[in-house]
Amino acid sequence: MKIGVPIEIKNNENRVGMTPSGVFELTKRDHTVFVQKNAGFGSGFLDKDYIDAGAIILDTIQDVYEVAEMIIKVKEPIEEEYSLIKPNQVVFTYFHFASSEVLTKAMINSNAICIAYETVEDIDGSLPLLVPMSEVAGRMSIQQGAKYLEKPVKGRGVLLGGVPGVPPGRVLVLGGGVVGVQAAKMAAGLGAIVTILDINMKQLRYINDVMSKNVITEFSNEYNIRKHIKESDLVIGGVLLKGAKAPKLITKEMLKEMRPGTVIVDVAVDQGGCFETTKPTTHEDPTYIIDDIVHYSVANMPGAVPYTSTVALTNVTLPYVVKLANEGWEKACQNNKALEKGLNIVKGEIVYKEIAEAFDLEFVTS
Ligand SMILES: NC(=O)c1ccc[n+]([C@@H]2O[C@H](COP(=O)([O-])OP(=O)(O)OC[C@H]3O[C@@H](n4cnc5c(N)ncnc54)[C@H](O)[C@@H]3O)[C@@H](O)[C@H]2O)c1
Repeated sequence: MKIGVPIEIKNNENRVGMTPSGVFELTKRDHTVFVQKNAGFGSGFLDKDYIDAGAIILDTIQDVYEVAEMIIKVKEPIEEEYSLIKPNQVVFTYFHFASSEVLTKAMINSNAICIAYETVEDIDGSLPLLVPMSEVAGRMSIQQGAKYLEKPVKGRGVLLGGVPGVPPGRVLVLGGGVVGVQAAKMAAGLGAIVTILDINMKQLRYINDVMSKNVITEFSNEYNIRKHIKESDLVIGGVLLKGAKAPKLITKEMLKEMRPGTVIVDVAVDQGGCFETTKPTTHEDPTYIIDDIVHYSVANMPGAVPYTSTVALTNVTLPYVVKLANEGWEKACQNNKALEKGLNIVKGEIVYKEIAEAFDLEFVTS
């Protein structure tokens, strides 16, 4: 199969859909991979690395879309790309269709086969192509939180690990899923005293079994949240209710109970956020202050560490890319239920119920 890897042209997106090692895996199976010039540069991969792995470098994005039977990307196509996508071309990327009617209609009109990373779903209901980005965001949340606890950026002036003779900082993690566990691990590693709140007892038992002694688990309810925010230096929001908006666990009124300079990092901002005062921010201007509380709520945290994010993402996408290339999209989706769940729009028809429902459009069973 002819596979195309274009440069990501969405503002500030430095990740790339395939690493040189992915190219190597495909070319050794006799597929041809066309990579746009400089596509990997933002993630630290040079054209030479791709050429050495067997790729053919093309000058323009038009060249890549023109020649490829399957496009491998990271972010959803933006307007400039809509007209480049051809009928029957497979596009495998994050789409998040439910958040854009314009994109949905453009992809219907393209007659392409749109397979979305975010809806590829294992039989146990887990979303394997979302996990690595949650892992990155969870770990990053502590790195960012620690930075914004510094006084020059209006934080409390607390060093999370403390020093001999000075107690460590306290970190409260709301939600003990992928984001929460990774955040807790990083905070615990720095020496902070960490509390994780969740409503899933099975998950709390697991965390209690595997985490170090400076990570404490408690059931999540308003009483416990109010108790902990009073003495926390850093609060991480990592809750998720599948398919729903995040519950507002910390209200504006509750900010008054927190100490000035406390930092709150709302990783769940992409689902509306779990703090009432959350509004999405960018890496250019990541924080704002309300009632002396420093809010960090960047909606694409992994974008700041494109090398790590690209490798983490392509580690999990590549096995599916190989299946699609070897078997063709129809057979690959028939043979792999997880991949079949990734089908969103096929040749002008919406085949994923929730997307059709979001815009009151026709749904066709795949
Ligand atoms: N900002 C970013 O760049 C970025 C990157 C990756 C993920 N995310 C977001 O982070 C959020 C968390 O993702 P995840 O992969 O960790 O999800 P997850 O499903 O693995 O974990 C969510 C956890 O929240 C818990 N939860 C639900 N309601 C709760 C409540 N009331 N109190 C406490 N815990 C509660 C669940 O039981 C679950 O354990 C999602 O909204 C995801 O989209 C954001």
